[in-house]
Amino acid sequence: MAVALIVAAGLGERLGASRPKALVELAGRPLWEWSLCTLREVAAIGRIAIATPPAYEYEGGVDEVSIGLPSSLDAIAVKGGATRSESVRLALAAVGEGQDSDLVLVHDAARPLLTVKLIEATLTAAEGKGVDAAIAATPVTDTIKQADGESVVRQTLDRAGLWAVQTPQVFRRGALERALDVPREVLAQATDDASLVERAGGRVVVVPAPKENLKVTTALDLELAELLLARREG
Ligand code: CTP
Ligand code: MG
Repeated sequence: MAVALIVAAGLGERLGASRPKALVELAGRPLWEWSLCTLREVAAIGRIAIATPPAYEYEGGVDEVSIGLPSSLDAIAVKGGATRSESVRLALAAVGEGQDSDLVLVHDAARPLLTVKLIEATLTAAEGKGVDAAIAATPVTDTIKQADGESVVRQTLDRAGLWAVQTPQVFRRGALERALDVPREVLAQATDDASLVERAGGRVVVVPAPKENLKVTTALDLELAELLLARREG
């Protein structure tokens, strides 16, 4: 049985809404709820923990949703950390003990278009022989160049073999725990958990994912996600 961690503790500074990003309403639900509902449809997933954002103040007072999730949602809420990886570490601790070989799925609340199909594909790939992590990703379609501080292009990367990485990312629990057991500064630099596993010498495989599984970062992404969800909900 796998466990799932939803990281929802970010502030959403680039979105610039009046509340933390995970609590912003999207097609009638707070952003984070879309991922929770999809994860709950997967039989292989047992416990789910959510790293929640700090309480935020608004004109009328303090929003309680950001402190504790409604108990009817049957997931464990835990206060997130100052960085994404710290939120992962806190959520992992909240789901309780497990075996080294158990699977742990990590998903960004900021990706509300998650599907059962993608969850199952990443879980299956993570069970592969010798695999420490399986991560959702799409092949890069743009040409990627590297420029210096003066905007002068220094090189054009070979696009073949480049992947834009998403979540879900599924880990063998032991590999994830060891990867997260590094100094705070290293954790703070990591934009995903798989890079920490790679850093520790682990074997990470990519799982082709649809581009629709976008991350809501800016207001334009929120608009796009709303359109795509409306299409999906039909
Ligand atoms: N996240 C988290 N804890 C943090 C920072 C981020 O749980 N301390 C989560 C976010 O809630 C999000 C995911 O990690 O679901 C990806 O992060 P990102 O898209 O960068 O979200 P924010 O950090 O909220 O946005 P921004 O960087 O614009 O402030
Ligand atoms: Mg961030």
